[in-house]
Amino acid sequence: MIKETYEEIIKLEQNRQDHNVELIASENFPSKRVLNAAGSILTNKYAEGYSGKRYYGGCEFIDMIETKAIEDVCKLFNCKYANVQPHCGSSANQAVYRALINTGDTVMGMDLGSGGHLTHGHKMSFSGQDYNIVSYGVDENGIINYDNFKNLLYEHNPQMVIVGASSYSRIIDYKIFADIIEEYAKSNNGEKPYYMVDMAHVAGLIAGGVHPSPFPYADVVTSTTHKTLRGPRGGLILTNSEDIIKKINRAVFPGIQGGPLEHIIAAKGICFEEAAKSEFKEYANQIVKNAKAFSEEFIKEGWKVISGGTDNHMFVLDVYNSIGITGKEAEEELDKIHITVNKNQTPNDELPPLKSSGIRIGTPAMTTKGWKEKDFIMLAKIIMEYMQEYKNGNVENCRELYINKVQNIIKNIKNN
Ligand SMILES: Cc1ncc(COP(=O)(O)O)c(C=O)c1O
Repeated sequence: MIKETYEEIIKLEQNRQDHNVELIASENFPSKRVLNAAGSILTNKYAEGYSGKRYYGGCEFIDMIETKAIEDVCKLFNCKYANVQPHCGSSANQAVYRALINTGDTVMGMDLGSGGHLTHGHKMSFSGQDYNIVSYGVDENGIINYDNFKNLLYEHNPQMVIVGASSYSRIIDYKIFADIIEEYAKSNNGEKPYYMVDMAHVAGLIAGGVHPSPFPYADVVTSTTHKTLRGPRGGLILTNSEDIIKKINRAVFPGIQGGPLEHIIAAKGICFEEAAKSEFKEYANQIVKNAKAFSEEFIKEGWKVISGGTDNHMFVLDVYNSIGITGKEAEEELDKIHITVNKNQTPNDELPPLKSSGIRIGTPAMTTKGWKEKDFIMLAKIIMEYMQEYKNGNVENCRELYINKVQNIIKNIKNN
């Protein structure tokens, strides 16, 4: 039995978030405005349907919220249509499959080990179970293998291709994929697969203008709102096609969801508004500068970073091939000195997922807290030294010392 009250447990989690270095690449700290909207009385309202076409009365203000959020997200990403109702990134992706293709159709997505997401075709997800998946991946340098993608496209004639990733640290060139698909269409009577981009991880970098946009190349774009975009936990779908948005809207509701979370939609709207500001551009730029400085410190000391560095908000550190410990061990040990990371498979990993050779390291959350390059460089040194102590079997003797070193960085930043 858990004795603590819910309020007490929330305080415990607040304390953990205040005293841990959050390096999970998909997490962030949204603004008070976003949190207030997410915890607001909008949660009381049922609003099945869409603005102007609801199945419940009393939706005039809800309609204003949802319409405004749609206007703001379309302006932010420079596209025509949006659905902001998906409860999360996975349901946004599921809605696209349901809207555009049939069960059993062929879909190409990046494999999990190369950086793709479960919903891009993993066998444990609806995507791998209900569709015929052809996976593409990265080359021996950890860079997307465009030739491999092209060959598989011609060989398998998919109905949809998915571009986007959860742990790929280089710029994804959406135009190259579009060009390959256009070229393929010429040899296929003009027929081509739907081109879907899942920009969940880099949405904030695209909004901040430091990464290229999937528009005008993609037919449909999905995202989460809680990663680099720094909003509430949720999903969204964007397109420039009237025909596609009609299908998407039907697939989201009544296809796979019921009443929309209007409190979360208001919080999404606020995050779109915030992401359009010049401060957010600076934030996005700093995320990337921090990730580059952080990864370079490991590389300088001879540690192995997949693809040899990063262009975005994260990188995968191959701890197994750097000092012979597994990603699981690194995740658990770093947690003990209040550094939070997640184990992550490396391309063609020889270890199983629950062990993994790598850890994924991201900078969005601590950049929100004001961390700069010098802070991440200091942290890289702490991580390397501490992991080495662990490897040498000496970790029990020095854990306190490293806990203090980590807390000192946090304190210094708070005081600045
Ligand atoms: C690329 C990508 N797409 C979709 C998702 C799914 O998002 P959610 O966890 O909100 O379902 C993730 C989550 O990590 C992701 O990285």
